[in-house]
Amino acid sequence: MFYDESLVEEIRIQNDIIEVIGQHIKLQKKGSSHFGLCPFHNEKTPSFSVSADKQMYYCFGCGASGNVYTYVMEYENYSFVDAIKVLADRVHINLPEPEMSEETKKAYQYKQKLFDANRDAARYFYQGLLSEKGEKALTYLNERELSETIRKKFGLGYAYFFRDDLYKYMVSKGYSEQMLLDTGLIAVENGNANAYRDRFFNRVMFPIFDIHNRVIGFGGRVLDDSQPKYLNSPETRLFDKSKNLYGLNIARNARKGHIIVVEGYMDVIALHQAGYNQTVASLGTAFTQGQGNLLKRYIDEIIIAYDSDSAGVNASVRAIPILENAGLIVRIANLLPYKDPDDYIKSKGAVAFESVISAATPAFIFEINQLETKYKLDDPESKTRFFSEIARRLVHMENELKRENYLETILDKYQIKKEAMNKEMELLGKDVGIVQEQKQTQIEEKSRRNEEATLVTEKNLLGFVVGHRDIYDAINQLIKPDMLLDETYQRLATMIYKAYDEDTSLEPARFINQFVEVDEQTKVARVFNHNIHVESQGQLEKMLNDLVYHIKKQYIDYMARKVSSPSDLQALLDEKRSIQNLNITLKQRN
Ligand code: CTP
Ligand code: MN
Repeated sequence: MFYDESLVEEIRIQNDIIEVIGQHIKLQKKGSSHFGLCPFHNEKTPSFSVSADKQMYYCFGCGASGNVYTYVMEYENYSFVDAIKVLADRVHINLPEPEMSEETKKAYQYKQKLFDANRDAARYFYQGLLSEKGEKALTYLNERELSETIRKKFGLGYAYFFRDDLYKYMVSKGYSEQMLLDTGLIAVENGNANAYRDRFFNRVMFPIFDIHNRVIGFGGRVLDDSQPKYLNSPETRLFDKSKNLYGLNIARNARKGHIIVVEGYMDVIALHQAGYNQTVASLGTAFTQGQGNLLKRYIDEIIIAYDSDSAGVNASVRAIPILENAGLIVRIANLLPYKDPDDYIKSKGAVAFESVISAATPAFIFEINQLETKYKLDDPESKTRFFSEIARRLVHMENELKRENYLETILDKYQIKKEAMNKEMELLGKDVGIVQEQKQTQIEEKSRRNEEATLVTEKNLLGFVVGHRDIYDAINQLIKPDMLLDETYQRLATMIYKAYDEDTSLEPARFINQFVEVDEQTKVARVFNHNIHVESQGQLEKMLNDLVYHIKKQYIDYMARKVSSPSDLQALLDEKRSIQNLNITLKQRN
């Protein structure tokens, strides 16, 4: 681990979960728990419960659960280390400096200084916009109907028209020339080593933030029709255009179920102002795989709302495979007859944009529509090639259900006979082995389902064990932690067994600290939220027998595939026979 376990636990104890969650959502006390609207899924009646005793949360609607660290990690999309930092800070606990070599330390400090420089520049531009010298720029932004609130939210500013205005200011703040060059804000003019010039002058300034709200670069727009319309910071140590998105610092917490990708800074701002704070833009370059992967960390569905001109359509066509490659579901918005989202909102208003989103076309259909423009449907030859291309794309679709659904849509749209299309697909399918592919998926599906059943079994057994010492006593000789298939449950079981053996308390929130990933933490928390209703002791004993039987059988089958000597195999078979007669009984409970 990165920090000492006891320190991590101390930070957790000092951060009361009711207080931390209470900062974001309104909680109401009911019985021993607090209830509120779940921040992790959309709901109208509260099913999100937080327990002060257990220092855990659990949502009955979506199953989200964990301790205060899990919550911060999920809510802010932070790593465990980030969550530790934030929560330590909140209760004024100083974390020890991570161990670094002298060199790493220097580089790290220099980078921090670059962030400071960017932030100071952003503040200077911001002041500039509000001062006398920014009057024209402010008028410009007002004419573009930006409110004061949204201007502040995006930290918009103005770079004055003297070409050394920022340079002089930054030098007065004590920044070295080398550092100013490294920010990309200042450049040396025409090889004249002493002529330092501002990169941005007489422009409206858009600071670009990373997901941690640090300023990593800028975009600047002219106030009139002169060229270039936009100018961006060059790539620097802080600014990697292919790994950041404008607006993502806000959109990542929007929780709308999708993120909208647009072309321009102004589109982002106009949509955010209209309430669509789930909007981002790439940074004056084409959409990259790095950006696609970045988005996938936060969301599963993307709506592309690029400009409606042919450049925008082409950009959409290029972005689709990149996004799909990242595992995202993609739909394309249609803004016609308006030019871009900014233009749309201005003309039709914020509410109307809702229907643009809901009517957005699935990527596959959008691609077929684009493809259609390249063929002549009144020419039988061309039409055949078009349909054949559709068949080829359908065959390559991995998910069978999805393929079937799109097939229906396409048949309907182009009035194609199902048999004809199926024949064509079969023909093509032989080449790519669609038939085997389907069989393979069926096998995978079955083994996946078996695995899921096993996981549920393991969860349920642990759930009984953590609640009741007598159950532990009854099963701990039968089931050893390493018999569990799931690694998280294995580790958890080891901890639970240890706690029982050493007679220490089984505090769920403390156990959760031992797991670094949100998924693991959630899984562990769910074990502790296990709530199976049992009618009688007899029924409980039967359940335990079933659970232990299933887990042991699974384990024996697994081992049987691994052993090679006949005697080992025989031993396993004997054991398998013996578990037929499991007889777990508990002492009379009251
Ligand atoms: N862009 C750029 N350099 C340019 C023109 C455009 O980097 N010379 C980038 C900018 O990120 C800009 C985006 O491409 O936000 C979209 O450009 P465009 O459609 O021309 O601008 P609009 O968003 O329509 O800007 P505005 O509404 O301010 O005219
Ligand atoms: Mn525009």
